[in-house]
Amino acid sequence: MTTLSNLLDNNRRWASDKIAGQHDFFKRLEKIQSPQYLWIGCSDSRVPANEIVALDPGELFVHRNVANVVVHSDLNCLSVIQYAVDVLNVKHIMVVGHYGCGGVRAALTNKRYGLIDNWLRHIQDIHQKYRTIVDAAGDENKQVDRLCELNVIEQTLNVCETTVIQDAWARGQSLKVHGWIYGLNDGLIRDLKITMDSADDMAAIYQHAITIL
Ligand code: CO
Repeated sequence: MTTLSNLLDNNRRWASDKIAGQHDFFKRLEKIQSPQYLWIGCSDSRVPANEIVALDPGELFVHRNVANVVVHSDLNCLSVIQYAVDVLNVKHIMVVGHYGCGGVRAALTNKRYGLIDNWLRHIQDIHQKYRTIVDAAGDENKQVDRLCELNVIEQTLNVCETTVIQDAWARGQSLKVHGWIYGLNDGLIRDLKITMDSADDMAAIYQHAITIL
């Protein structure tokens, strides 16, 4: 285990399986990267982006961080969005949260884990903003799940408010931004009805998505 030989063995098996299915699989991938989708999701090991939506290497551009947060000043996330939109010309961006998110739970329950508490402060802000809705959800697990949903909606709006997306829409680029949430217990994705494809009606779509939770 010290050399991770099991993982390297897995990798060799995976690569040969891919070639067995399609002999030029890697040759083809090496030449082009033209994904249609940018996935912004949680780092949680139970939410493997490509696998959940059954997409192959080359088909999904991915950014993940703890609790799928999109912060207006996060150069890492903003650079991913900018490259995906301006260079790769993706058609869809999906912000994908998941129920039972540990980061969201830590934010809700004020658990201290160290440096990451500062990152999760963004989620505590959402909790403060929608305290009534979260409180009304029920027991702690239900409150966590409601805050997970609110977090997706908020982060989807944050994506739409970036200069990258606003500029893309202003020049007529076809681009839809979606908010999804994944169930760890059933493997299913739910659409949170916050899809935006222009700078018009952003506030109304956002408010409606909150209302129908
Ligand atoms: Co999570």
